[in-house]
Amino acid sequence: MTQKQPLIIGNWKNVLGVGDSVRLVQALMVELQNANHVEVVVAPSALALLSVAEIVRDTRMGVAIQTIGTEAACTGEVSAEQAREAGATYAIIGHSERRVQYGEDDDMVARKIGEAMKAQLVPILCVGETRAERKANRIRTVLKRQISHGLRTLKASTPLVIAYEPVWAIGAKKAATAKVVAEAHDMIHAMLGRSARIVYGGSVDQESALTLARLPFVDGFLVGRASLDVAAFHGIIQAYIER
Ligand code: PGA
Repeated sequence: MTQKQPLIIGNWKNVLGVGDSVRLVQALMVELQNANHVEVVVAPSALALLSVAEIVRDTRMGVAIQTIGTEAACTGEVSAEQAREAGATYAIIGHSERRVQYGEDDDMVARKIGEAMKAQLVPILCVGETRAERKANRIRTVLKRQISHGLRTLKASTPLVIAYEPVWAIGAKKAATAKVVAEAHDMIHAMLGRSARIVYGGSVDQESALTLARLPFVDGFLVGRASLDVAAFHGIIQAYIER
C-alpha cells in the first residue's frame, strides 16, 4: 500500500456560479473537519476561484485552476500567474474535455505544464485512453506518449500529480473496474521513474471509491459530478479514511 497522502480533487467544471461555489465550499469545510489524513482540493470555475480560495485560506483545503493559458496578453485566457495570485496551488492540465473539444495536444499540454511550474502551481496531468484506443490494445502506447511528451518541460524535482482518466469512463454510468484501474496505475507508476501521486478519475462515486481506494498506486481521485454533492463527495473521501 502506498504511503503517500491521499489526494481527492473535486472538479466543478463550469457547473456552478460564484454564489453556489461559495456555498458548496463552506458546506464542505464543515463536513470535512475530521478528514485529517486526506488532502482535499477543489477546482471551481476561474471566475469563482478567488472567492473560494479566500474561504479556504489558512485551512488544509487546496484550490486548483481547471486549465491555464500559455500565451501572454491572450483574449479569454487565465494565466498560471493569475491563478496563483488568486490562491490556486494546483492546475489541472490536459483534461480530456480540453484535449477533445479544444484540440489540446501533447505539445500544448507540455507548454501548460511549463507555465504551471514557473508559477509554482503543482500540475495535475490528466492522461487516459479512448474506448477505441483500448479496443486496439494501445493503452500503454497512449499513456507513454501523453506522459513523456506532457512532462518534458517538468524538472524532476517538481511536485506532480498524474490523473488517470480513461476517456470512456468520464461522465459514464460507472467507474472503470478495479482490474482496469490497477493495470493502468501500475503501468503509469512503472513509466514515471519519479515520485508523483497517481489519482483515478471517471465516474467515481462512494461505492467505487471503497474498492478503488484499496488498490496499490491509487493515491486518490479526481471527481466530477459526485464532487458537487457534499454527502457524495464526503463519502468518497471517507473511503480513504476507512481503507
Ligand atoms: P465524472 O468526471 O466524475 O463526472 O465522470 C470526472 C472528470 O471529468 O474529471
